[in-house]
Amino acid sequence: MERIETDVVIVGAGAAGLTAATELVTAGREVVVLEARDRVGGRLWTGDVDGAMLEIGGQWVSPDQDALIETLDELGLETYDRYREGQNVYIAEDGERRLFEGEIFPVPAKTEGEIVGLIEKLDALVAEIDPDAPWTHPRAKELDEISFAHWLETQTDDVEARLNIGMFIAGAMLTKPTHAFSALQALLMAASAGSFSHLVDADFILDKRVVGGLQQVPLLLAERLGDRVRLGQPVRTVRWQEDAPAGAAAVVAVTDELEVHARELVLAVPPVLVDRISYEPPLPRRQHQLHQHLSMGFVIKVHAVYETPFWREQGLSGTAFSPYELSHEAYDNTNHGDTRGTLVGFVSDEAADEVFRLSAEERKERILESLSHYYGEQAKHPVVYYESDWGSEEWTRGAYAASFDMGGLARYGADLRTPVGPIRFACSDMAGKGYQHVDGAIRMGRLVASQIVEELA
Ligand code: FDA
Repeated sequence: MERIETDVVIVGAGAAGLTAATELVTAGREVVVLEARDRVGGRLWTGDVDGAMLEIGGQWVSPDQDALIETLDELGLETYDRYREGQNVYIAEDGERRLFEGEIFPVPAKTEGEIVGLIEKLDALVAEIDPDAPWTHPRAKELDEISFAHWLETQTDDVEARLNIGMFIAGAMLTKPTHAFSALQALLMAASAGSFSHLVDADFILDKRVVGGLQQVPLLLAERLGDRVRLGQPVRTVRWQEDAPAGAAAVVAVTDELEVHARELVLAVPPVLVDRISYEPPLPRRQHQLHQHLSMGFVIKVHAVYETPFWREQGLSGTAFSPYELSHEAYDNTNHGDTRGTLVGFVSDEAADEVFRLSAEERKERILESLSHYYGEQAKHPVVYYESDWGSEEWTRGAYAASFDMGGLARYGADLRTPVGPIRFACSDMAGKGYQHVDGAIRMGRLVASQIVEELA
């Protein structure tokens, strides 16, 4: 067993952990980053699949994400616009394919009025929510005790309006069914992006991509950190003490090969994985409880690459939605400068469960059938096809991120980031602004680093 001594040990080399490490090194601290996988990036992973560059994990950047944008600038990374010229597609309940422009789907006038009304109501409520402390809203408990499905039912009896508004938060963001999370959790999701209107506006929320892939952020950060980052080192045990003498090691992170003794430890892992580690002594009661009330969402990100972006010739932007389709949303995801065309589609929560019961061949057929409803028969014949399956990833266990069960946010939210002795927590899944996004991971990495710098000073 190799023994290492350092100021701060960081568990997890995702965007949060690597940002924290970078900030601490800049402040003159010694750090060691222990990463379970044999690569850095966590939920950022730009892969080569059969000769196609695919963003297997996170990829889009929106204009409000200033922590991420600053990091991209610092690292000299360039961005480009998501392709969006032309008409979008909406598929109605009876399967009719309708083309449209703008944000509001081509639905009957009454439904459109209900959708616009719901967006206004949600925007007004979201404006009252502090994304860093949604539990302080005067009606937080009440809003956390009703499901988002139920809240929508109390607002309108128009089912199509409810399905569409539900889709923006459920299928598209928390990747859980609307009955599985609270109205407060839905408001946090929207508040973290500035407003509910931002979530509805694909041109805002899915604005830009990074030339060469978003995994370059963790790759470049790790390159600068050099041999401070140790791969293939799942942390199994954390030994800690509350009152270590000043300057002494208060915490030890143990992997199968290393023992890292440090004054502070950052758990930069999804909160659902905190319990994978053994703690000596055990974590306090509050942590034992609260981590049981969080769970990962679940979505399949589907990549289909074609010889050409054939939909553009039909005047289509590639942007497509339908709450009635297996793939509830899809986009043109062609890489910068690529002559081939790529579509990306998403199959969320219960629909994902359903297709994972099928064989791989049947699943592919069902998903491509759904894409063909938006783009025509050609969509059934990609030259490269790939499904990002984060549910099978031992060190992630779902996608995109973790959220609380009913009532959990009001009850436990305030303690999610509370340190335990020398142990601190940082992850996109506990961010306010940028919650569940890379921007939030960077914010949490910065926050925890600044707290440690102050603590160790
Ligand atoms: P992350 O999970 O990335 O990192 C945690 C790290 O800890 C991992 O590397 C893991 O291996 C490691 N680890 C866990 N347990 C360990 C242990 N015991 N010992 C050592 N290491 C351990 N965001 C966005 O901004 N735009 C987007 O378009 C998307 N799209 C998107 C698509 C898909 C399919 C996914 C899965 C996710 C997104 N996201 C996204 C979300 C975004 O990718 C995510 O919020 C951040 O990358 C999370 O970064 P963190 O560092 O917080 O956690």
